Amino acid sequence: MDDIETQNLELQLLLQAIYLKYGYDFRNYAKASIKRRILHRLTSDKLPNISAMQHRLLYDEAFFGRLLLDLSINVTEMFRDPNFYLAIRQHVIPQLRELPYLKIWHAGCSTGEEVYSMAIVLKEEGLYDRTQIYATDMNEVVLRQAREGIFAINHLKQYTANYQKAGGQESFSNYYSAHYDHVVMDKSLKKRVLFSDHNLATDGVFGEMNLIMCRNVLIYFDRDLQNRVFNLFKESLCDNGFLCLGSKESIRLSVHSNTFEDVVKEEKIYRKKISQNIL
Ligand SMILES: C[S@@+](CC[C@H](N)C(=O)[O-])C[C@H]1O[C@@H](n2cnc3c(N)ncnc32)[C@H](O)[C@@H]1O
Repeated sequence: MDDIETQNLELQLLLQAIYLKYGYDFRNYAKASIKRRILHRLTSDKLPNISAMQHRLLYDEAFFGRLLLDLSINVTEMFRDPNFYLAIRQHVIPQLRELPYLKIWHAGCSTGEEVYSMAIVLKEEGLYDRTQIYATDMNEVVLRQAREGIFAINHLKQYTANYQKAGGQESFSNYYSAHYDHVVMDKSLKKRVLFSDHNLATDGVFGEMNLIMCRNVLIYFDRDLQNRVFNLFKESLCDNGFLCLGSKESIRLSVHSNTFEDVVKEEKIYRKKISQNIL
């Protein structure tokens, strides 16, 4: 066995150790990206090898906390990909408007920028007060930030530009109050939101949803885990429910492809077909 094979074996054992000790299952994450992150932490903490890291994380929960943040990449922004939100306004909202009550799930919501963006769209389209939003992530640290709705002020210029490109109808400043180096999102934007812990690799179905957003999460998963998650979404959506993925993700290579039809192909907005198995 050469050095690379030994390192890959150590990596496999490390992921198993994390799962058995802490219950977080990274075993079906895309290997290259997870290995890059582990090796980065190895160098910055000056550990000699992955086995030494395994020993450290088994006995030091704070170290695992830091590693967990490394492994869950939390990059996000308000109105990320503005054209996506424009497509939601133009092609999804008119169909949601027909429903008396709405349930929306943001899976892998990170620090919540996506959730606040969608809440703004729903408000401007007059749907917010009849919507229940579930915003979930596996990472408690980012969920806490999402719940607080406090963001660094230095992103504001870009967020305002994104909001306008996404078809924003107001002044973006109506939705936050600015402080010295941060902004606090308007409380009303989280009135209909329930933030909670949910792990797509290990947890179950999440109710009868009309729309599920899971953007820029599946890129970190291997094909088997993607299929598990697509199945979870299939089971969680009601007939005609919408599934929204990130720009680099697609349902088309998965075993669940046939269950979904395109709504806006280029924005990765799909719709669950009406069940075929009702006799
Ligand atoms: C790159 S961020 C995407 C945030 C947001 N959806 C967006 O598109 O801007 C990926 C998020 O997925 C979360 N995540 C990774 N693996 C997960 C899992 N197994 N279950 C739930 N969330 C997960 C991470 O904690 C992180 O917050």
